[in-house]
Amino acid sequence: MKIGLLSDLHVDINFAGEDRVTPAVCDTIKNNDLDLFITAGDIASDHKLSLEVVTRIEKETGRDCLFVPGNHDLWNEKHPGISAMETYTAMAAHPHNLASGPVKLKNGWSAVGDTCWYDYSFGTGSVFSFEDFQRRSYKGRIWQDSIMTDWKMPDKKVHDWFLGRVEESLILSEGDEIVAVTHMLPIDDFTVPVPHDTWDYFNAFLGSRSLGELFLKYPSVKYSICGHVHYRKQVVKGGITNICQCLGYSTEWFDNVDPFVEVSKTMKIIEI
Ligand SMILES: [Fe+2]
Repeated sequence: MKIGLLSDLHVDINFAGEDRVTPAVCDTIKNNDLDLFITAGDIASDHKLSLEVVTRIEKETGRDCLFVPGNHDLWNEKHPGISAMETYTAMAAHPHNLASGPVKLKNGWSAVGDTCWYDYSFGTGSVFSFEDFQRRSYKGRIWQDSIMTDWKMPDKKVHDWFLGRVEESLILSEGDEIVAVTHMLPIDDFTVPVPHDTWDYFNAFLGSRSLGELFLKYPSVKYSICGHVHYRKQVVKGGITNICQCLGYSTEWFDNVDPFVEVSKTMKIIEI
């Protein structure tokens, strides 16, 4: 089974609202004859558009598109007043959202996943206190989740809630080998290298150590797929192949401006 991996499509931010990314994703899925596409969040900054993109990919390629919501998908910028939990629940109704439960892939494999959240453990604790991170603002920069995702509970509580949900899905999938999918990072190998002027602080909002430790508790987890940080990296650790494979913003594509070129060279293909 050939699975294509690419996250952080940001179809609405890229190319100023003209979606030139989704057609490139569909073409790449078909050109590589993939059996399945998995995206680890940040499809768009509007959950309704994100779900439309999933539907379009599935319709145009004839392949399933499994996903987890990213923090951008949960933003309420386009739907003021909606809580993050309401948006999350609306998205979880989609059967190919892994937040709605594990999905069987093929003989002996399942996909498990969720957005997950941050507990500040990736921030530089020797420089900043937990209270500093709770402000979610540093040197005049505001971490935008603090404005656009209202969970109505502190980050640590959101983080622990997600961790419990992921563990439930891992238990439900007992006996299968697992492709785990989260928007947030499970390992600090994918955080921004420090010391750094601002990322000593903002790395706090990229993921959590407990998430990576949870995956290590379950030897059935063979792949851990994440997004969020707009890197393209792979690290094998403790028997788990960790893959962060992001399309990211077109402004981050260096000398290329063609979405077809960028998507086709960035799509990571694994075989199970
Ligand atoms: Fe992103």
